[in-house]
Amino acid sequence: EKGGYEHFMLKEIHEQPRAYRDTMLSRIGEGSETTLSEIQLTPERIKSIGSIHMVACGTAYHAALVGKAVIERLTRIPVEVDVASEYRYRQPVIKENTLVIAVSQSGETADTLAAMREAKLNGAQVLAITNVVGSSVAREADHVLFTWAGPEIAVASTKAYTSQLIAIYLLALHLSQTLNTTDALARAELIQGLKKLPEQVESMLEDTRQVQRIAQELSGVSDLFFIGRGLDQMVALEASLKLKEISYIHSEAYAAGELKHGSLALIEDGTPVIALATQEHLLEKTISNVKEVKARGGHVIAVALSGNMPIAGTADDVLYVPRTHALLTPALSVVPLQLLAYYTALAKGNDVDKPRNLAKSVTVE
Ligand code: F6R
Repeated sequence: EKGGYEHFMLKEIHEQPRAYRDTMLSRIGEGSETTLSEIQLTPERIKSIGSIHMVACGTAYHAALVGKAVIERLTRIPVEVDVASEYRYRQPVIKENTLVIAVSQSGETADTLAAMREAKLNGAQVLAITNVVGSSVAREADHVLFTWAGPEIAVASTKAYTSQLIAIYLLALHLSQTLNTTDALARAELIQGLKKLPEQVESMLEDTRQVQRIAQELSGVSDLFFIGRGLDQMVALEASLKLKEISYIHSEAYAAGELKHGSLALIEDGTPVIALATQEHLLEKTISNVKEVKARGGHVIAVALSGNMPIAGTADDVLYVPRTHALLTPALSVVPLQLLAYYTALAKGNDVDKPRNLAKSVTVE
């Protein structure tokens, strides 16, 4: 049942190219149009959306953070993201023209369901992005966009997260197509980029020896940091959670520019810092943050787009990911970091698929 892999998690990491293809299938045409026929949002309704609230937990929350950046960029609709367990209690401003997007792999997360119910009670339309057909989230939502990642067994979510990203890209494109907020050329560039992702992930999965070597080194440390700017920060949060969940190593993720406002005090000789640097329009600033870390003795492992020379001259190690559209980098840069979490946990002899204290689906608030 593990298809020859030692763990479900590794199998599911390797299933990502297939999951990306399935999530895109029949939703992207030959040209640059997207069709999301299963969601019943009429053009009139889309044009009337005043704001979007995204609610989710854990890894799905991290996908929603990427979603905010992408949806705002393409549609200019203001997007707020809430951890689902907090949403109800802050008395959010929900109006009839608010679209609430719930993101949930299992579709059974109690916190997410409670947030959805709060939204509906206040007259908002709810759109669910979920992986499980027939789940509570799918049944209670007004519109459902399935992620088609296939069953995810490992507690640590991998292919569900990346297929949530794909679904979010498609949704953002779909909204912007109707709203005419992004020109056809820019949409076509994104769609070309999306279509290339499955092959690019395949190429990253071919040879994982460098990641395995770094994982060996990390398996002996007790604390580490992830930093990144823009979308890299969102991936840093997800990579940090993944590592914590299964390797039990303490880590924190920061906006790269925020480190110097306090946490830089924790960097000592040899402290590992994983610096995501795929957002090349922000590269100069990220590199100066990397230099701050290096000056305190930190050991920097960068994640960068292939051919990024400036980072190679600054970091101790670089994990390269294939070049893609700046908005799509999370769908690639997370992959080596999923593998890093996996191999680090493996090196520590942990139960990778069933980490301590955690359940796959959290049905209590
Ligand atoms: C992390 C993980 C959890 C879930 C969270 C939400 O790897 O799996 O953080 O992402 O419990 O679960 P769903 O998406 O099923 O609502």
